[in-house]
Amino acid sequence: TAHAMATPKIVRPDFGGPFPEHLAIIMDGNGRWAQERALRRVFGHREGINSVREITTECARMGMKSLTLYAFSVENWKRPRVEVRYLMRLLRQFLIQERPTLMDNGVRLIAIGRLDSLPKDALDALRETEALTAKNSGMLLRLALSYGGRAEIADGLRKLARDVKSGALAVDAIDEETMRGYLYDPGTPDPDLMIRTAGEMRISNFLLWQISYSEIYVADVCWPDFRKPQLLAALKSYAKRVRKFGGLVADGPAPKA
Ligand code: IPE
Ligand code: IPE
Ligand code: MG
Repeated sequence: TAHAMATPKIVRPDFGGPFPEHLAIIMDGNGRWAQERALRRVFGHREGINSVREITTECARMGMKSLTLYAFSVENWKRPRVEVRYLMRLLRQFLIQERPTLMDNGVRLIAIGRLDSLPKDALDALRETEALTAKNSGMLLRLALSYGGRAEIADGLRKLARDVKSGALAVDAIDEETMRGYLYDPGTPDPDLMIRTAGEMRISNFLLWQISYSEIYVADVCWPDFRKPQLLAALKSYAKRVRKFGGLVADGPAPKA
């Protein structure tokens, strides 16, 4: 209907400072969430979907430009077969079930990672959801699936080396921007803020190239408990950060040496 097609109204909280254009989240602690409740790990993954829906919707409503969610790492394939199979089923279910929510919020979905490792039915659902949402002009939702930061750099380097070999790229022309062009989704600017849930203080091979100057926020709650209030707390913290990118003053004139 015409009503559903309307661009959702953007309501952004004002914390008196900058708002991240690109937020990246390491969604961790699903297993612990379940185990704390004497449930099997997979129940935590299932509950985590509700956080994905709430956080995606809230970010879209706030007018965030991009949200990258670390959903499955290239190392996560090492987990027990039953857990991997459950996660892949959940992924397919999510990609199908969330289509109305994505459309209502004007969200465009893409995936980054070694996607050819995904089971065919999950990949088919992914391609269909990407196609369905391709023309949405609101937030970009990037799902990192079978993703590894080193894998991304290695995959990019292989393509770069091929271009050098064929003569399409000169060795002396390689700089940081050239390298970026060979990563999975080079058009999306680096994350401004990176959140990890479940209190863990590590990167776990997420977006190694792109997070060089991202602000980091660690939330103590497990991912299934990370909802709007926790998101607002992270955004409030970000609003107070001073980003200098190696310089001395944020966005100001260079001070005299
Ligand atoms: C994050 O939760 C989801 C995935 C990595 C797929 P975990 O499954 O890592 O949960 P914990 O860290 O073991 O509690
Ligand atoms: C990182 O969490 C990967 C995702 C959230 C998808 P892990 O649970 O796999 O990371 P480690 O093993 O604790 O470092
Ligand atoms: Mg974990």
